[in-house]
Amino acid sequence: MLASKRILLVIAGGIAAYKCLELIRRLRERGAHVRVVMTKAAQQFVTPLSVGALSEDRVYTDLFDLTAEHEIGHIRLSREADLIVVAPATADLLAKMANGLCDDLASNVLLATDKPVLAAPAMNPRMWGHPATRRNVARLVADGIRFVGPNSGAMAERGEFGAGRMAEPMEILAAIEAQFEAAGEGRPLAGRRVVVTAGPTHEPIDPVRYIANRSSGKQGFAIAAALARAGATVTLVAGPVGLADPEGVTVIRVETAREMLAAVEGALPCDVAVMAAAVADWRVASEASEKIKKGPEGTPSLAFVENPDILATVGRHPTLRPKLVIGFAAETENLLANAQAKLAKKGADLIVANDVSPETGIMGGDRNTVRLVEASGVTDWPDMAKDEVAEKLVAVVVERV
Ligand code: CTP
Repeated sequence: MLASKRILLVIAGGIAAYKCLELIRRLRERGAHVRVVMTKAAQQFVTPLSVGALSEDRVYTDLFDLTAEHEIGHIRLSREADLIVVAPATADLLAKMANGLCDDLASNVLLATDKPVLAAPAMNPRMWGHPATRRNVARLVADGIRFVGPNSGAMAERGEFGAGRMAEPMEILAAIEAQFEAAGEGRPLAGRRVVVTAGPTHEPIDPVRYIANRSSGKQGFAIAAALARAGATVTLVAGPVGLADPEGVTVIRVETAREMLAAVEGALPCDVAVMAAAVADWRVASEASEKIKKGPEGTPSLAFVENPDILATVGRHPTLRPKLVIGFAAETENLLANAQAKLAKKGADLIVANDVSPETGIMGGDRNTVRLVEASGVTDWPDMAKDEVAEKLVAVVVERV
């Protein structure tokens, strides 16, 4: 399966770098082409000579190597691969990747690439557990970087144990194979984490009454199912609907907007968010603890407060914003203008806009006519089944992550 696959291996400076020699051998045995970039620090642990002997290619070490830039620029280097593997991915290199820093060849290649990246972290357990590294890894997961390891065990430093050992070469090899297998099997979203919201929310008035809307949840459930079929790891946060759990999807059932927000935040970091729920904009300011009774006070009047905006919270998240944030716009008038306003206001990349006027039959029905609104323009899709809208939307997701 790895025959003629092009792997660009980035070796950073850690003691685990020696394991890369074994990794290169195993990749070559399977017919993969291996091109290697080494950081300056990596060369303290293994020499370009031994790496080059095993990869049977020249080893790239210097951003300002004119001969190399002449033969193959660092941009081409970053794109002429099917997969980039970073092993060992040190705390320093992960921090650079998370922040888009690029002061050497390895970090430039990682910033310039448009190819999938698999990282095998290796560092001291305290460094791995440090909040800064946690933040960087969460950021990288949200950016779409995949990880293998680290494992737990004894460290190179005497007496140190914990999580931080680089995955073994055979484990990295298995992760590389899994990556190609998933892509080749029509499961292009394998390894991607997605959170989807669907359905209405119910906002209680008292223990027996609530405010709701007509959302059926069908479109959100269809999207979650289609994403799972494409290989994604899907968390579906669903308001009260009578639909069965889609196959292979983790479903969290909630009632209120605040519960929905908490469940969505709990599902972060992830690569993609699809917010299809018809979240109640308002809730009753103070829910009555007992059933409100008819009485001499006459008709009750309800005061409302605004609910949190889940899409905007995710779309404008300071640290865990997914790479792709998709919202919906349910409108009964001025569809396009309202959808465009929501795109900007909520920090979404794309808004799926639909007309939910009663005569369209969209709300609660099985069909949908949508317009895809993004900063760069609008695409109209013809009327189709909600399942087809879901399939087409998954194709859009695959293109963008
Ligand atoms: N949304 C959300 N949380 C809210 C309200 C809306 O996540 N509290 C999301 C919906 O899931 C949808 C998008 O925001 O993806 C737009 O929802 P919509 O009901 O069309 O818009 P509103 O924000 O309610 O705006 P308006 O009331 O002006 O229509």
